[in-house]
Amino acid sequence: MNILLTGGAGYIGSHTLIELISEHHSVVVVDNLSNSNKESLTRVEQITGVKIPFYEADIRDRDALEVVFSAHNFDCCIHFAGLKAVGDSVTHPWEYYDNNIGGTLVLVDVMRKHGCKNIIFSSSATVYGEPSMIPITEECPKGHCTNPYGWTKWMIEEILTDLHTADVKKDDSNPWNVVLLRYFNPIGAHKSGLIGENPNGIPTNLMPYITQVAVGKLDKLHVYGNDYNTPDGTGVRDYIHVVDLARGHVKALQAIENNCGIAVYNLGTGKGYSVLDVVHAFEEANSVQIPYVIEQRRPGDVGICYSASDKAFIELGWKAHYDIVDMCRDSWKWQKMNPNGYESL
Ligand code: NAD
Ligand code: UFG
Repeated sequence: MNILLTGGAGYIGSHTLIELISEHHSVVVVDNLSNSNKESLTRVEQITGVKIPFYEADIRDRDALEVVFSAHNFDCCIHFAGLKAVGDSVTHPWEYYDNNIGGTLVLVDVMRKHGCKNIIFSSSATVYGEPSMIPITEECPKGHCTNPYGWTKWMIEEILTDLHTADVKKDDSNPWNVVLLRYFNPIGAHKSGLIGENPNGIPTNLMPYITQVAVGKLDKLHVYGNDYNTPDGTGVRDYIHVVDLARGHVKALQAIENNCGIAVYNLGTGKGYSVLDVVHAFEEANSVQIPYVIEQRRPGDVGICYSASDKAFIELGWKAHYDIVDMCRDSWKWQKMNPNGYESL
């Protein structure tokens, strides 16, 4: 298929590029590089041996998208572009609604004008809020998000669903096909160590924080709460290797090809690990020590969040293959080879 990746220079996008190329799809990337570095695409080219057409453009820029869509005939868009820092979204809500929702509105409008009505959207387990069931199936009702970032995912899901529903009601001969992929917690990196997660400033997510402690950039990990109702009291999450997640997008193309209408899939492993489980797995996998201190709970965090991932397996034949040791090993390899991310050149 001919596929547009918005946000393709980012963490998940760059890994997905490799998996798409290895399955012989043609890809074009649009990214404004607001949270990424073009070097990620150079590295993907190095890994795959394939030149990647790249447009440095903002998806809110209608004219720029017109140029891209006039030059290519896309079968599908995989829409990664968005701002994703939970805390930042609380202090800059307008920027999050403008970028994520405003950007998506422009993107889907240009898509439909060019007859491309197939989209795979990067949603998040955050739409479940405080989940009403564990493990979380796709039947679990969407919940109350605790931050603007979460609401952007929640609302974009609604917007894309409404586009499809309207087409069905008016008997459109080319209705939208929408795949909503609800990611759990992606960590890890490509096995080459050439691409990985490249957070700006001090990381807010667990694994990049751990790797920066391991490499000596930060002195200790702050564990947010040990009084949750979990086996060791620390928060439990469903960590998924970013390469497994990337392959989930390749599989989701099948749903698009089968004219799925609206399809929702959790992308997780179905296993929950606590913060201290991850710390200990990292220490064992990599023979390094991660000093930590216990702090208060982080506002907005839920205690336990892990998926039931059977639906993606039954309908798409997708399941995660890598385990927590692989994730810790590959995260560390990326950090060791690139102590300053893509800026270390
Ligand atoms: P990332 O920041 O590495 O990648 C997002 C990319 O989108 C970046 O390259 C950024 O420059 C680009 N971008 C942002 N706004 C843009 C705009 N207006 N126009 C063009 N490009 C724009 O993040 P990621 O971890 O790769 O996440 C990809 C998607 O998955 C995001 O939508 C994110 O919200 C979602 N998601 C991520 C996680 C996670 O933990 N990483 C979890 C759930 C969902
Ligand atoms: N944690 C710490 N110390 C840290 C960072 C995190 O103890 O320095 C803990 C958190 O309290 C939580 C766990 O590690 O229990 C995971 O936290 P992350 O920040 O890595 O991930 P979250 O589950 O909070 O959120 C992530 C993404 C969101 C996404 C959500 C669900 O950041 O964008 O997963 O997909 F919405």
